[in-house]
Amino acid sequence: MRKQIRSSGDLIADRRLNYGQTFLKEGDLVAAIELFEQTIDRAPAWPEAHFALGGARRDIGDRAGAAAAFRNCLRLDPDDKLGASLALAQIDAMATVDVAPTAYVKALFDAYAEDFDKALVERLSYSTPQKLAQAIRAARKVAGRSGRALDLGCGTGLAGEAILADVAWLEGVDLSGGMIEAAKVKGVYDQLETADILTALHRRETNYDLILAADVLIYFGDLSKPVAGVAARLVDGGLFAFSVEKGDGADWTVQSSLRFAHGADYVARTLKTAGLEIVTLEDAVLRTDRGADVMGLLVVARKPVRARSGLPSTA
Ligand SMILES: C[S@@+](CC[C@H](N)C(=O)[O-])C[C@H]1O[C@@H](n2cnc3c(N)ncnc32)[C@H](O)[C@@H]1O
Repeated sequence: MRKQIRSSGDLIADRRLNYGQTFLKEGDLVAAIELFEQTIDRAPAWPEAHFALGGARRDIGDRAGAAAAFRNCLRLDPDDKLGASLALAQIDAMATVDVAPTAYVKALFDAYAEDFDKALVERLSYSTPQKLAQAIRAARKVAGRSGRALDLGCGTGLAGEAILADVAWLEGVDLSGGMIEAAKVKGVYDQLETADILTALHRRETNYDLILAADVLIYFGDLSKPVAGVAARLVDGGLFAFSVEKGDGADWTVQSSLRFAHGADYVARTLKTAGLEIVTLEDAVLRTDRGADVMGLLVVARKPVRARSGLPSTA
């Protein structure tokens, strides 16, 4: 996904950054770094230039220099619209981050909203919504539209569309106002809200038969809060269906894409801690990225049905 580069207010600095990006694309990292440094000389308070310098230094193997540039970026942009804290954590084990910054997610997806469906479905072969819908159908074994569903990080509504035929009521929540506007146009949701997932789960008073999170928990490293929040909002027997990108065994890591990847053991442990039981946890190709398959985990978990008091448990 492309970040939208704003202007520094200095035309020459803007041009130097642009030239630097062109050199970067052509693989000339030395020239790109020189231009990014020149940009910073002219516009020292421009976070974009520090972020670009950090990326180019990282790519050339100068980790310390990259970390310094990302730290400068964070100092100048404490809300972290550019995701410098993620870029820093990706190269420096001492810099931990457990969730993508709100300002970063909003800026990224507000800029991406208009082009999202075309980019994901046509160019990146995004198929997670359909695969999750299939896994949900296999787990529910209920024909026809029934139950209340909540789509977390609903985006433009691709997952909502995939599950619409199976649910009687569908709500969507997303941080990005731009994505919510695009979802409204589709008319898939009975209710839409611009909010953070954790806040939305906390505020809700109703419980759901199904909660979905397609390609969303990749913006969370630590899954304990969203999973506990979901568990609290499911009816007994309710399902939680989600995808994550698959990591190399660590609980979670920040990838060069600035998305998180998760280990299968960690996902299973987090669900268990929240009192959810796994119905399906399987490897799948989620989509492509720069021509390569993005490997992920498709998960369906269930909130167990509690034995009614006064009756002997059959467990
Ligand atoms: C890759 S898109 C996936 C959208 C949709 N679920 C789909 O399958 O097409 C990720 C979405 O998650 C949203 N998101 C990320 N972190 C969020 C958070 N903490 N709270 C609410 N939405 C979030 C983003 O704004 C974005 O719309």
